[in-house]
Amino acid sequence: MLKERLSEYSTLVNKAFDDLLVVDEAPEKKLKEAMKYSITAGGKRLRPALILEGYRIFKPDYEKALPFACAMEMIHTFSLIHDDLPAIDNDDFRRGKPTNHKVFGECTAILAGDGLLDYAYKVISNDMKDGENLPNKVKAFDIFSNGVFDMIKGEFVDTDLEGKDISMDQLMYMHNNKTGALIKASLLIGATLAGADDVSLQVLKKYADIIGLTFQIKDDILSETGDEKILGKPVGHDSINGKRTFVTMLGVEEANKRLDELTAESVSVLNDISDKDIEFLKELAIFIKERNN
Ligand code: IPE
Ligand code: IPE
Ligand code: MG
Ligand code: MG
Repeated sequence: MLKERLSEYSTLVNKAFDDLLVVDEAPEKKLKEAMKYSITAGGKRLRPALILEGYRIFKPDYEKALPFACAMEMIHTFSLIHDDLPAIDNDDFRRGKPTNHKVFGECTAILAGDGLLDYAYKVISNDMKDGENLPNKVKAFDIFSNGVFDMIKGEFVDTDLEGKDISMDQLMYMHNNKTGALIKASLLIGATLAGADDVSLQVLKKYADIIGLTFQIKDDILSETGDEKILGKPVGHDSINGKRTFVTMLGVEEANKRLDELTAESVSVLNDISDKDIEFLKELAIFIKERNN
């Protein structure tokens, strides 16, 4: 069920991007090409899927959450374009293709990231214009903008701590923000747009906190032991760059052990809302642990 639904969500989001990101003849044509290049380069579309599924748990017309889903993917893609820049991780491959700055140059890549950051907000404000479901959209917008800043905080802390000896608490703070924030915000945005009750929101918050962490632990493991061709991005750079990750701090075995424990915990947390359709989220927790890209 998970694979089919993930692919259904990706198709929906990709179609929406066809309409949103049009490259027309204008002096800034190259900027738009650069924005489109990274958005259409691939990607699992996990965050949009969490928004659409978070909505669908509570209401069937989940396509109503599509503008927020696209906006979130734009934010995520902006964060990846900037993360790959020479000043941050200096990586040459992303989503199986040369990174944005390798194709368009550093100036354009910086501005393409900025462009996607702004465009995300534009898509949301446009979605709010008709006034439909506005109170929930305002709440979702608040979660969105807080999530974006938390991600940026996490990216900063990641770069700031590079090469330094750090504690487990510092590592968790960095991970929860740089990766966990957008993942958690995504699920909560979907549920909030659909008018979810407070008890369910609390449970989803707990679940999303854990999968945000398992997602990054797995990212760290794959960054060290993955297959570059399947992963679509470089392997082995974290240790070379002096990055503090679960793997460089604890070793692969211990990181895998934590991953197993946390995955089991995330699945069991969901039992508190077993009256809802939580099958997708349960399968997703396992998918995150077992993925190879
Ligand atoms: C990679 O995210 C960066 C992290 C925040 C760990 P994803 O693994 O979701 O990247 P794409 O969207 O599939 O390329
Ligand atoms: C990326 O983190 C997180 C953000 C861009 C916010 P990493 O640098 O650990 O992820 P990858 O391995 O490059 O995808
Ligand atoms: Mg990084
Ligand atoms: Mg990186």
